[in-house]
Amino acid sequence: MRKQAAPDSAAATVTLRVFRFHPEAAASPRYQDYRVPAAPGMTVLEALVCIKEHLDATLAYRSSCRMGICGSCGMFVNGFPRLACQTQVQTLGSLVQVGPLPNYPVIRDVVPDLEPMVTHHAAVRPFIIRDEREQEPPTTEYLQTPGELEAYLQFAYCIKCGLCLAACPTVATDPAFTGPQALAQAYRYSADSRDWGFTARRAAVDHPHGLWRCHLAGACTEACPKGVDPALAIQLLKRLALAAALGMGRRRPAPLAPPPVAVQRRPDIPAPPPPIVGASPAADPT
Ligand code: SF4
Ligand code: FES
Repeated sequence: MRKQAAPDSAAATVTLRVFRFHPEAAASPRYQDYRVPAAPGMTVLEALVCIKEHLDATLAYRSSCRMGICGSCGMFVNGFPRLACQTQVQTLGSLVQVGPLPNYPVIRDVVPDLEPMVTHHAAVRPFIIRDEREQEPPTTEYLQTPGELEAYLQFAYCIKCGLCLAACPTVATDPAFTGPQALAQAYRYSADSRDWGFTARRAAVDHPHGLWRCHLAGACTEACPKGVDPALAIQLLKRLALAAALGMGRRRPAPLAPPPVAVQRRPDIPAPPPPIVGASPAADPT
């Protein structure tokens, strides 16, 4: 990350009011004000870097890519969940309040514990589910039309930043709610023409704290920085669940494409390793 300029008393400045909390050392949180230079284009993340480098090394925040890809810098900025690396300070006024994402435990200062989201995400089995043995050894591929890709593509842009859960009024009142991120990913994989896993996924989404708890407030979609529209995914997932309950709508997944014929490996590309599953045990050299 680039070095941030030291605060300059002559430059235009902005006040960052930052949530401070060290659960092991303090009984309650507090806010602390810092004045930093408001350079054109400066992001909230860069302002926090400036604070840490020049004013207060004890400040804790989380970031990695600083380009809206990794999803690690989600914060509650002026009352709205945002990615700190994509939010410019000068768009926020002269006083910028920065806190941890709501609806998560706080690890320290503005660092939330995203474990609740990750647990729900893993529970919906976010991967293509097929007959495990049909591709052993791997021989060919699954083909998909542009229309089949379009059915799930926008939901595949999720970066697991957790902003949608921070915005969700149902998560705020029911911490056991599966949440918009995991439900959107359940739909993303269930809508994939290569997948046949909704039956296996259904128990993780169709329960008293699952998809029917969504009342379509739409706050998740408003907060999502990647245009995923989790609220839409949840409504489409409800349709899948209803069809499954009525014994309808189960489709065959896309078949394997026929093996390529008359295709020759380029001589400079090494051969793949031998298959492991189904291989006979290696002979014992002794
Ligand atoms: S759906 Fe959007 S807001 Fe929610 S975790 Fe994914 S990228 Fe973040
Ligand atoms: S630092 Fe990666 S999304 Fe902000």
